[in-house]
Amino acid sequence: MHNTVKITDKVYWIGANDRRTHLFENMWPLPYGISYNSYLIVDDKIALVDTLEQGSSDDYLVKIEELIGKERSIDYLIINHMEPDHSGAMKAIVERYPDIKIVGNLKTFKIIEFYYGYKEKWHQVEDGSQIDLGYHKLKFVMTPWVHWPETMMTYDETEKMLFSGDAFGSFGSLDGGIFDDEIEFEDYYEEEMRRYYSNIVGQYSNMVQKAYKKLDGVDIKYICSTHGPVWRSDVNKVISLYDRWSKYESEKGVVIIYGSMYGNTAKLADFIARKLAENGIKKIRVYDASKTHLSYLINEIWRYKGVVLGSCAYNSGMLPTMEQLTRTLEHMGVKNHLLGIFGSYSWNGGGVKSLHKFYEKIQWDLVSDPVDTKGIPGNEEFDRCETIAREMAEKLKDN
Ligand code: FEO
Repeated sequence: MHNTVKITDKVYWIGANDRRTHLFENMWPLPYGISYNSYLIVDDKIALVDTLEQGSSDDYLVKIEELIGKERSIDYLIINHMEPDHSGAMKAIVERYPDIKIVGNLKTFKIIEFYYGYKEKWHQVEDGSQIDLGYHKLKFVMTPWVHWPETMMTYDETEKMLFSGDAFGSFGSLDGGIFDDEIEFEDYYEEEMRRYYSNIVGQYSNMVQKAYKKLDGVDIKYICSTHGPVWRSDVNKVISLYDRWSKYESEKGVVIIYGSMYGNTAKLADFIARKLAENGIKKIRVYDASKTHLSYLINEIWRYKGVVLGSCAYNSGMLPTMEQLTRTLEHMGVKNHLLGIFGSYSWNGGGVKSLHKFYEKIQWDLVSDPVDTKGIPGNEEFDRCETIAREMAEKLKDN
């Protein structure tokens, strides 16, 4: 008896947990693992919705056989998203079920051809196309760039079930609980879900909002994402979270992130944090960018409205860990933050100058003049850092 989970009478979760991989996309830490969710709809015709990461489950085919028997074939393999964490088992499926039709849009097939070499077996769908499985009527919704250009969603009109691809997904393995009513969402997944959103999907936030407009008015009882829990008791919770994050709506708090070699910039960071607290801000987080992984820093920036960035000069620029952070934020086009800038230098400077260039590109709301300190900070620099904290607190109260 393998681990398959009945979602409804004819729809099954047949996903897998990955607790071995250290870095998702060889980039983002997975301290709590990740799940790859695949779904099987068993009807007059059978459809498999997305597959698994290659090698993530050696019993995937066995699970399918347990559900449909050895004699039946799968009619459709629906590829909502081609990224290999979901298409990795495609070859194994096609070899086992050679008559299967691969369902996707034109962009899906262009990518499939380069990854897996298939030039046939295609069943091309467009926005609004339908497939009738018997009891289940599936409708396809094109949602490009959530997260790749070919991404789409499949809506089961019969069960009112949305197979959403990466949208509404989360880092974190499924540790027994598969459904939202079987887990402690706020204790564990909410943080991992925001980190997943901000790291993986966040730079396509405008496309997430376009997808929301397309789904407006659609009656959704279940959300079946490719990562994380299946939502059946409170779909509005996850819809609301993704809506807020994709609109860059954040909490009234401040994250201070700094790069410091010999402690002067770090001292200013602690000073600003204290002054924020004296000005009534309770949600304050301070991070050393050389210690905390970029993944968590981006997550915190997504969470809090106020961002204060500090860097010492390193050669003629920022400390490289701060440079990596700011370049990533620019690349992601993160919007709608209040910004403070500070730092220190020993001869010609460069850290604060580079942070100011970042500000000119990202165009967040600079709350006060940047503070650059030669050597060890003195009273004047502390006073000016106090101004950053005070102005930041005032603006947060106004927001
Ligand atoms: Fe979970 Fe964009 O792949």
